[in-house]
Formats: sequence, structure tokens, C-alpha cells
Amino acid sequence: MQIKGNAAVVTGAASGMGEATARFLASRGAKVCLMDVKLDGIQKIAAECGGSAGYCDVTSAESMEQAAAEAAQENGTARILVNCAGIAPAHRIVGRDGPMPLDEFKRVIDVNLIGTFNAMRVMAAALRNEQPLDAVGERGVIINVASVSAYEGQIGQAAYSSSKGAIVALTIQAAREFASAGIRVMTIAPGLIATPLFFGMPEGVRQSLANQVPFPKRFGDPDEFARLVGHILENQMLNGEVIRLDGAIRMQPR
Ligand SMILES: NC(=O)c1ccc[n+]([C@@H]2O[C@H](COP(=O)([O-])OP(=O)(O)OC[C@H]3O[C@@H](n4cnc5c(N)ncnc54)[C@H](O)[C@@H]3O)[C@@H](O)[C@H]2O)c1
Repeated sequence: MQIKGNAAVVTGAASGMGEATARFLASRGAKVCLMDVKLDGIQKIAAECGGSAGYCDVTSAESMEQAAAEAAQENGTARILVNCAGIAPAHRIVGRDGPMPLDEFKRVIDVNLIGTFNAMRVMAAALRNEQPLDAVGERGVIINVASVSAYEGQIGQAAYSSSKGAIVALTIQAAREFASAGIRVMTIAPGLIATPLFFGMPEGVRQSLANQVPFPKRFGDPDEFARLVGHILENQMLNGEVIRLDGAIRMQPR
């Protein structure tokens, strides 16, 4: 798919990989709507990159439906959806204080998995009614974000790993379901990417994490994620697959 001129929605666009993706797509000529619960953040970034901003809590059906309708009114139906909204709290299944509170597990599943599904269902429903973009019949592309934790969940990542593993499983299922509509579905599973998630860590901890990456021995840059999004959009044979973006890291138990 050509990026230029097409409408795009990026969730979790107030920071990290979502922000980098929104800026990248805007710089390539897409009409980008940035969605997040942090309205100030997306408004500022949207003003800087020439996009629009829409408050959206990805866990809420109504919030997503409203934000998608407003974005479509402004830019036309989104042909590109990149689901970057996510949270990553750490908690053992059984910690010092006893079993993990069930609501904590549910909250992570709600934002990471149900939020991804929520955006996908609303955007794909709108896309199906649009004309194809080319002679092959492509109507749009959905890119979800998992994590290497889907495969090598560390101790303390029970909820996070579960949510990301489910996003991996959803990839081929959704790609099969949407094939007849010309909608591709891809997932990126990042390793360690330098986003605000890591800014608060002591330098020593960050360095030790970076040393676990076989090559290159550093954190990934959010722009490297955004460029992979660009490649997926432009390479039509990529469908129903998960791509690790991780410098060959295989996470250790802790
Ligand atoms: N940074 C990493 O190393 C890394 C590695 C693997 C996977 N990931 C995943 O990549 C995605 C982006 O991560 P990041 O590091 O850029 O994180 P980030 O914290 O910088 O950005 C996440 C954004 O999601 C938004 N968000 C949270 N809950 C939301 C909700 N209910 N509705 C709408 N927006 C909401 C936040 O406000 C924030 O702006 C996440 O799914 C994360 O799990 C990150």
C-alpha cells in the first residue's frame, strides 16, 4: 500500500513507538489521527506533525467507535491502523503479598488485548465498505504490537505475556478472516525499545539490559519500529505473520 494520501489511525500515539509511528506516517504524507488517553500529548504531537488528535480509551467500545467516526469524518476511512496503546505493569502470579489481584491481570488484558481487538473490529468494519485501493483488491492494513514477552515471558510478566501471546495468536486468525476484504494483518513483536517505559530506569539496569542484546548491543529506537511499519505497509506479501524486532535477544527468566 502506498502511504501517501491515505488516512491512518495510530493508538497509543502520545508517546514511544506510537508517537514515532504517527510522526513517520505524517512525514510520508499520510493523514494521521493520533489516539490516546493523554489528550494533551497527542494534541501537541499532532500540531507538530500536521495530524489530528482524538481522545480514545481503547478499552471502551463507545470511546473507540466515537473516535473512529470523528477521525473518518476528518480524514476519510482509515486505511492504516497501528495499535500501539499498551501498558506493562509487573506482578508475579503469587507475590510476597499473596496472589496477584485478579483486577490487575484483567486490566492488562483489557488495555493490551481487548484494546487491540476493539480498534481492529471497528476499523475493519469501516474498511470493508470502502473501495479497494488497487487492482489486487487491497483495502487496508492493520498492524498490531505484541512483544518478545509473548514467547519468553519473564518472571513478573504473567499478565503482559498473556496479553501479547494472544495478540500473536490473533494475527493469522484475523488475516484469514479479512483476506476476502483485502485487509492485511501483521504484528510486530519488539524486544527492548528506548521509550519512556525505560527512561525511569537506573543507567546500570539499562546497560545490563542492553548487554543482553546479541547485536547490536543497544536498545532499539522507536524510529526503527516506525520504519518497519512503513515497510509492512508497502510490502503486500507480508500478511498474517509476526516479525520480531529485537537484535536477536531471547529474554532470560528475570
Ligand atoms: N518499549 C519496549 O521495549 C516494548 C517492547 C515490546 C513491546 N512493547 C509494546 O509496544 C507498545 C508501545 O509501547 P511504548 O514502549 O511505546 O509505550 P509508551 O508507554 O511509551 O506508550 C504507550 C501509550 O499507550 C497509551 N495508553 C495506555 N492505555 C491506553 C488506553 N486505555 N487507551 C488509549 N491509549 C492508552 C499511553 O497513554 C501511552 O501514550 C505497547 O503495547 C508495549 O507493550 C514495548
